[in-house]
Amino acid sequence: MDLNFPSGLELESVAGEGRRSIVYKARYRAETVALKIYRPEFVEKYRKKYNVNIADFEMSRNEAFRRVPKLFRYAAKPLGVIGKDGKHSLAFLQEFINGITLMELGRKKGGLPGSVLQAGEVIVKEAEAVGLHDLDLFYKNILVREQEGVWYPVIYDFNLMPQYRYPPNPLLAFMYRTGLHKKSHRDYRCIAQWKKTLPFESRSTEDE
Ligand SMILES: Nc1ncnc2c1ncn2[C@@H]1O[C@H](COP(=O)(O)OP(=O)(O)OP(=O)(O)O)[C@@H](O)[C@H]1O
Ligand SMILES: [Mg+2]
Repeated sequence: MDLNFPSGLELESVAGEGRRSIVYKARYRAETVALKIYRPEFVEKYRKKYNVNIADFEMSRNEAFRRVPKLFRYAAKPLGVIGKDGKHSLAFLQEFINGITLMELGRKKGGLPGSVLQAGEVIVKEAEAVGLHDLDLFYKNILVREQEGVWYPVIYDFNLMPQYRYPPNPLLAFMYRTGLHKKSHRDYRCIAQWKKTLPFESRSTEDE
């Protein structure tokens, strides 16, 4: 991928890679940030198929989530979109989350703390109530961090186009249309997985 940024951005290291992007840890205006650079084929896909700019789309979902008082602490802070001028790579700037993955926390503690599982429930319910569905809550995408001794999840990936808006096949279209699938169906399924499918030998009860 050709990278080209406005001055003032210093890349430090690769924070991670997704299907749609590569994410760098970077310095910008004396702050450590996450710089999410979209792969050109996904910039194209979102423009053609969904008629949105992928970076604006992700930023607006991230902002909508952060506007809900009960959700505020569970999302990385959106900082801005750069590269829309066409001269630079299209990227989204976001608070850098210094956390560990849900899996790592589970391994470390022998199970997920109750605070994380309860936060998962709050996230799905509150988001659903404000019309935010399909938040890509797959357990492998979740980072957790600790504040005053309490662990909680932080969501950073807001670029998934909700399936109910663009169902991939007629059966799913039918399920969403008739209510057989709730719009947040996949979110509920992901949260249930947080509890069930993590490969922990034993579950801790100390935090529950
Ligand atoms: N704000 C952040 N702070 C720290 N690390 C981050 C942040 N955002 C992303 N990452 C890292 O970068 C990786 C890729 O990010 P993300 O999953 O959002 O990309 P994506 O392209 O949307 O992925 P996919 O297409 O699979 O949904 C993450 O797994 C994580 O390790
Ligand atoms: Mg994503």
